[in-house]
Amino acid sequence: MAFDLENIPSQQGKIAVVTGANAGLGYEMVINLAKKDCKVIMACRNLDKAEEAKTGIEAKVPGADLEILLIDLSDLSSVRVFAQAFRQQCDRLDLLVNNAGIMWPPYSLTVDGFESQMATNYFGHFLLTALLLDLMPDTSASRVVSLSSNAHKLGSGEINFEDLQSEQNYSKTGAYAQSKLACLMFGNELQRRLAKAGKKIRSVTAHPGVSNTELARHMPQYQIELVRYTIGPLLSHSPDQAAMPIVMAALDPDVQGGEYFGPQGFLEMKGKPGRAKQSDYAQNQAAAEKLWHASEELTGCTFAIPRAQEVTTP
Ligand SMILES: NC(=O)c1ccc[n+]([C@@H]2O[C@H](COP(=O)([O-])OP(=O)(O)OC[C@H]3O[C@@H](n4cnc5c(N)ncnc54)[C@H](OP(=O)(O)O)[C@@H]3O)[C@@H](O)[C@H]2O)c1
Repeated sequence: MAFDLENIPSQQGKIAVVTGANAGLGYEMVINLAKKDCKVIMACRNLDKAEEAKTGIEAKVPGADLEILLIDLSDLSSVRVFAQAFRQQCDRLDLLVNNAGIMWPPYSLTVDGFESQMATNYFGHFLLTALLLDLMPDTSASRVVSLSSNAHKLGSGEINFEDLQSEQNYSKTGAYAQSKLACLMFGNELQRRLAKAGKKIRSVTAHPGVSNTELARHMPQYQIELVRYTIGPLLSHSPDQAAMPIVMAALDPDVQGGEYFGPQGFLEMKGKPGRAKQSDYAQNQAAAEKLWHASEELTGCTFAIPRAQEVTTP
């Protein structure tokens, strides 16, 4: 049956974290969750923008239960401070939407020495998930949703373990593609590890297709205008439509761990949400394990998943 938000029951009592919640797809995601009575922590790096977005969402969804918490995903110390603040405020987490992202900026290294797209899109979310996972109730409704992109198939289509931070050679499109591939491989590997530990929590991945959001901010204005007034409308959809595969991954009870969602139209660029196709490399288990270990080392965290408690009958 086609996914329809109308068929999703109220999420009253549940708590979600959405990163990059003040703009684009994250903003739309919060609207959908709020419509379903879910409390949402808007994890944003700019408090003014976040307040403005919160006010806008509250006007659209009266009674929305929203809070703002500061996070800069390109700075591991900020991710740690966020996780600590979240734990002081909430004793459970039902849904983590690893959405925040940047695309095609000029080359720069973050305070932690990471290439900025890998830092924001991938490493920050890896650490955030590691720091919050134990707050998730062990049920199939608990979800970690990681955002990938059709771009995961572009560039070399592989993780460049020899030059993870593009220090030898930077291609802005290649580094974006690698970061989105890393997000997808992380989602897959997390699911394998959850299943191995006997957990019911589900790790799911999604991509929005193509949508005109602020993600294009590093593109020259003339290129943005050119696309907007030529092929753009044919090959893209609005942010509210583009958010639907993410909403489906987060809320559809039929979703299985490890599944990947995206739009169903031509080349998965637009259309109704459904199951999407990953590259072969994205499903390469050995590469995903290697990436996991490198990520643990680089973020300085041990991402252990304790075994699910055995249920013993008296
Ligand atoms: N739009 C598309 O066509 C498309 C296609 C494929 C995949 N995606 C993926 O979808 C996700 C959302 O993108 P979008 O299109 O909604 O882009 P967007 O409109 O630019 O929104 C990105 C959000 O991420 C936040 N963000 C950026 N850097 C951050 C940092 N260091 N710390 C915390 N938050 C940060 C931004 O905050 P500020 O407002 O403060 O900058 C903003 O809230 C991304 O992961 C992107 O890769 C988008």
